[in-house]
Amino acid sequence: MPVSSIAQQVQSLREDAQKALESANSLEELNVFSTKFIGKKSPIQAIFKELKNFSAEEKKELGPLINTLRDEVQLSFETKKEQMTQAELNEKLKQDWIDVTKEYPTKQGSQHPISRIQKIVEDVFTSMGFMIADGPELETEWNNFDALNIPPTHPARDMQDTFFVSTGEVDTNKNSVLRTHTSNLQIRSLKEHGAPLRVIAPGRVFRNEALDATHDAIFYQVEGVVVDKGISLAHLKGVIEVMLNKIFGKKIKMRIRPGYFPFVEPGLEIDIWWEYKDKKGETQGKWLEFMGAGMMHPNVLKNCGIDSTEYSGFAFGFGLTRLAMMKYGIEDIRLLFDQKKEFLEQF
Ligand code: DAH
Repeated sequence: MPVSSIAQQVQSLREDAQKALESANSLEELNVFSTKFIGKKSPIQAIFKELKNFSAEEKKELGPLINTLRDEVQLSFETKKEQMTQAELNEKLKQDWIDVTKEYPTKQGSQHPISRIQKIVEDVFTSMGFMIADGPELETEWNNFDALNIPPTHPARDMQDTFFVSTGEVDTNKNSVLRTHTSNLQIRSLKEHGAPLRVIAPGRVFRNEALDATHDAIFYQVEGVVVDKGISLAHLKGVIEVMLNKIFGKKIKMRIRPGYFPFVEPGLEIDIWWEYKDKKGETQGKWLEFMGAGMMHPNVLKNCGIDSTEYSGFAFGFGLTRLAMMKYGIEDIRLLFDQKKEFLEQF
């Protein structure tokens, strides 16, 4: 093969490569170009292989020709690749650009039904001059039971399935329980503030219960206490009536009957008349147990350092979780703690 034919091949390859490079419009196409013109099987390499058929003199002439072509192709490929990478990056940056000063529509959250009802209850009671107290969920056995006139051997301890955290000490002030009711705040508030006192204490309580539609091991209660001179059951009835009417926005019928709780004497259960629509859409009604209450037992007052010949008081306790279910028509308690967005979004 004559030297001139190789020189020609080099020239036409140069033109081919130029054209191919010009028409490569993406990084992918550039890769195809590189395999074709720069890879081991490229025609440039094929020309290199042919050099062995030429004399040393001819090689001296042809070698630099081919080398130059190879370097040119390599360089223009790299330059174009660099440009394209930069262009693609710029394009991406342009697309990803966000205006941080622009206001984007956000979804506003809402209050959990328990928090909502708690706020309503708190508003009703603060309007009647009550303060709001908070206490620990991990409580001494003494404050949860003994001080409320429920001594260790008392069967009433079995009325509430308790989570004991530590036991074995004879001194019940040294044992801890997850409080089974908010009645521990009767003791804490009276000890802290003395008499006279009007206080409510909303909070979380714990019982070792099997879960179903109306029972959970964790739920919310509200405790209420009024201690003053001359306090009677009439005051209790009045306070509860005001509370129910305000919460439900209409007159609520209630029924008071005797009930037993060791920390009150006499003890009462208060039921409310609950109207609802049945499956046929007809209004039905039934009595629902709503709260426990009563006149504070002299032993409880004594345990808090209050003179029961001078002061009397009433106490009541009801389920805030239950109240939320009634007010918002929630049929399954588990919905309240499921974290289901679709459920919570309704409030
Ligand atoms: N602590 C009681 C319970 O959890 C409820 C209760 C009943 C509270 C009577 C009271 C009361 O203050 O007087 O079942």
